[in-house]
Amino acid sequence: MPGIIVQPAVLGPKKERGSISISELYHENTKLQPDLPAEMLAPGAYTDSEVQAMARGYKKYRLARQFPLPAIENLPKDDRTFDDVINSRRSVRDFGNEKMSLNELSKILHQSYGITGEITHPDGNTLHLRASPSGGALYPAEIYLGIRNVEGVAPGLYHYNVPDHALELLIPRDPTEQLHEACCQQEYTKKAAVVVFISGVLQRTKRKYGERGYRYVLLDVGHLGQNIYLSCTSLNLAIMTTCGFFDDLANRLLNIDGICETTLYVAFIGKQE
Ligand SMILES: Cc1cc2nc3c(=O)[nH]c(=O)nc-3n(C[C@H](O)[C@H](O)[C@H](O)COP(=O)(O)O)c2cc1C
Repeated sequence: MPGIIVQPAVLGPKKERGSISISELYHENTKLQPDLPAEMLAPGAYTDSEVQAMARGYKKYRLARQFPLPAIENLPKDDRTFDDVINSRRSVRDFGNEKMSLNELSKILHQSYGITGEITHPDGNTLHLRASPSGGALYPAEIYLGIRNVEGVAPGLYHYNVPDHALELLIPRDPTEQLHEACCQQEYTKKAAVVVFISGVLQRTKRKYGERGYRYVLLDVGHLGQNIYLSCTSLNLAIMTTCGFFDDLANRLLNIDGICETTLYVAFIGKQE
């Protein structure tokens, strides 16, 4: 990229007072411009197999206990129409005490970030495609679940193992108190059946797209979050997202460093009251 632009090109009221907005500075410095080097405009600097290697960025906790999720093909089909789901999607804050089922959790994970297709590259290697779109098909997000009230699953902190469609147990005890602290003591943590944390492994995308790739990670996670919302709506579950989480506490809970991999999105899900 060219040298850092210290002042955004567009002067707003704050600039006139001499202060610099970090977000404006970042945005200005990550704009694509016609005079940028060709590889910035058309990221073709990687061979197909290099891009494929990047896209195999699945995180697996190989030493953790694995719990296979119910296979998607055996689950009942949704009976709500897409029109109905879109028109009834709302953030629902009234969580009931009833347990969520493992089938529901399986569906939500599959419909948000599960493997739904594949393409074969000319060299014969296979690239998996997921339920939500991703810049460069690099899939930088990871999903963690603070499970409190799901049928057949002991309370604990889990990670979603995408290729095996399985849960991996990271902390084998009721995570409620830690979730409550990490989510700024919001009462929803004590009512939701599951607290979902989505992290971004930034380098999966930034190694191809540079600093601009950070934008793509946030966009990817937004798409993924909306899929979770729509999946919950189609299952008549309550869901509410929040930006109210203490980043460092959330990262510590997930045992991620907050730099290479960092928490970006939190949602509460459960049965409706
Ligand atoms: C990034 C983001 C952060 C949000 N944070 C909160 C929150 O902390 N607390 C809350 O009650 N709702 C939160 N919401 C939900 C919004 O209030 C809600 O989406 C908005 O009022 C529109 O309502 P609807 O989702 O029911 O259509 C958040 C939504 C988004 C997209």
